[in-house]
Amino acid sequence: MHELIESRWSPRGYDDTATVSASEITEILDAGRWAPTWGRIQPLRFVVGLRGDDTFTRLTGTLNRGNIGWAPRASAFILLCTTNDPDDAKAHTYGAVDLGLALSQMLVQARALGLHGHPMAGFDAAAASERFDIPHDKRPLVVLAVGRLADDPDTLPPEIRERDAWPRERLPLSEVAFGTTWGEPFDS
Ligand SMILES: Cc1cc2nc3c(=O)[nH]c(=O)nc-3n(C[C@H](O)[C@H](O)[C@H](O)COP(=O)(O)O)c2cc1C
Repeated sequence: MHELIESRWSPRGYDDTATVSASEITEILDAGRWAPTWGRIQPLRFVVGLRGDDTFTRLTGTLNRGNIGWAPRASAFILLCTTNDPDDAKAHTYGAVDLGLALSQMLVQARALGLHGHPMAGFDAAAASERFDIPHDKRPLVVLAVGRLADDPDTLPPEIRERDAWPRERLPLSEVAFGTTWGEPFDS
């Protein structure tokens, strides 16, 4: 794998004094903006907050209990919104696919800048829609936390340090990639 992909993970131990620059945020947003888009619809919209500003504070207020303990240490939050049209199954589904693609590119771009990103579905989407006047034809799906890792993990609260030390695992390729028939491992 490319080292940018290999080095990506979802940390919680951000440096709560670090900032991200305007150009870094712009590069991450551009990476999302240039993701493939079904039917060239371009359904994505972003709401961006930098730690300390009003948008960041309002997004923090939507986070669930599992995220509130670590995420506000990040330098920026980017709320990703996409198509909300349950009556149009294709637009609704592929709007979510577009968002996933954009999110992925943004995570890789963050790594290219020496930053890390951590996506969160654990937030109150209805509250976010209300706080940011998000129109009914858009749905907020993910808050992306972006920041720099703390230089010294010993400065982190123990619960964050311990959680970040959990092993990361994936199913082996033989269980997820099939060749001649479903369940038969692809044999390269
Ligand atoms: C759509 C989506 C939503 C997620 N929501 C949360 C979340 O609310 N809180 C959290 O701590 N991690 C969240 N994650 C991160 C996953 O827990 C993480 O990607 C998974 O544990 C694998 O770890 P890795 O990213 O380090 O490989 C989310 C990831 C995705 C793709």
